[in-house]
Amino acid sequence: MPTFQVGIPRALYIHIPFCATRCYYCDFNTYTFHKELSKVYLSALGKEMEWYVQGLSEKPTLDTIFIGGGTPSILSAESLAYLFNLLHHHFSVSNRTELTVECNPGTVDQEKLEVMRSAGVNRLSFGVQAMQDSLLESIGRVHKSDDVRHSLDLARQTGVQNINLDLIFALPGQTLEQWQQTLETVIRLSPEHISTYNLTLAHGTQFYDLWENGNLKLADNDLEAEMYQYAITRLTDADYQHYEISNFSRPKYEPRHNLVYWNNQAYFGLGAGACGYIDGYRYTNLRGVKEYITEVRQGTPISSQEKLVGRARKAETLMLGLRKLAGISQEAYQQCFGEPIDAEFGAAVEQFKNQDLLQWTENRLHLTPKGLMVADQIFLEFT
Ligand SMILES: C[S@@+](CC[C@H](N)C(=O)[O-])C[C@H]1O[C@@H](n2cnc3c(N)ncnc32)[C@H](O)[C@@H]1O
Ligand code: SF4
Repeated sequence: MPTFQVGIPRALYIHIPFCATRCYYCDFNTYTFHKELSKVYLSALGKEMEWYVQGLSEKPTLDTIFIGGGTPSILSAESLAYLFNLLHHHFSVSNRTELTVECNPGTVDQEKLEVMRSAGVNRLSFGVQAMQDSLLESIGRVHKSDDVRHSLDLARQTGVQNINLDLIFALPGQTLEQWQQTLETVIRLSPEHISTYNLTLAHGTQFYDLWENGNLKLADNDLEAEMYQYAITRLTDADYQHYEISNFSRPKYEPRHNLVYWNNQAYFGLGAGACGYIDGYRYTNLRGVKEYITEVRQGTPISSQEKLVGRARKAETLMLGLRKLAGISQEAYQQCFGEPIDAEFGAAVEQFKNQDLLQWTENRLHLTPKGLMVADQIFLEFT
């Protein structure tokens, strides 16, 4: 089955660029929450939806929707209801659609969760990061570990059966024991999916400034590798399948939306700073909330777009595919590009095979356990 098709997207990302405060490590496109501004923003989102569906004979059918941020769950129950009305008005959403909302622990209540459930939300993703209050405070999180337990209980009581918890390792000052304890606590909470991200030190964040001035000590490479390896072993032991570099799921709970990205398929991207991929074009919207609102009133808020062709498109497809532990199918690649992977990347693939970093299994090229540890360095060679 070909997997890299473009065309009318069947997936949608909506960006909600508001948070209570900015975490010290975060460089996502997000701003301090203002209720009134958020209402104007949602109405602009409605205009953007209209722009995409105008002239179509029927509403686009969506298989997956991801409402991310920022903190979508910071919106009031009333605003969430308004957003879901817009969604259902412009797109065809059924009970087969995977509909995920990103939430911060401590920002959901029964009313919001019921609005989400009745609008078809069937998956929640909580940013947990760590389970020690001191560590959470030291990275600028507003929530405490008890908020995680409480929000999860509420979500389960409302009937949400598919929950992801995001964790970050190699945080400044985090010990291996703290990471192990976070994993144990999270495993006991029994989410269907767990994401474990290695801390990225991004330019423009508070952590970056502290580090640049010599006031922040980062984890060394050995500790980072040990934490990652520990997570793989422990989560696999606890029956989570390691299916992507940073992602683990219970059987049958791999999120279909993320697979759209890794299979290089088309998706609508709506909202300030959102990216989308339609008809082979990757595009990005204006990042500023006010600029986005102004532009949407006059047409499209797209600020840049690029059609990836030739080696760049092949490299992107290869790198996204290699993020999955099952790797990339030679057959699907060949159907998409009319040539095997080796035609463009033969020398690099051969070199990584000899170093035991890449391997072919049943006509799929994938990272080896050793390759997983240095995936970013491998990907650099393909660009
Ligand atoms: C789009 S973010 C926002 C989710 C939500 N607002 C929250 O923080 O609870 C999704 C996830 O990316 C991860 N993340 C954000 N910044 C990161 C960084 N600098 N390094 C590693 N992971 C990061 C966090 O685990 C976060 O939960
Ligand atoms: S809550 Fe999430 S999106 Fe908002 S600043 Fe923190 S990590 Fe970034």
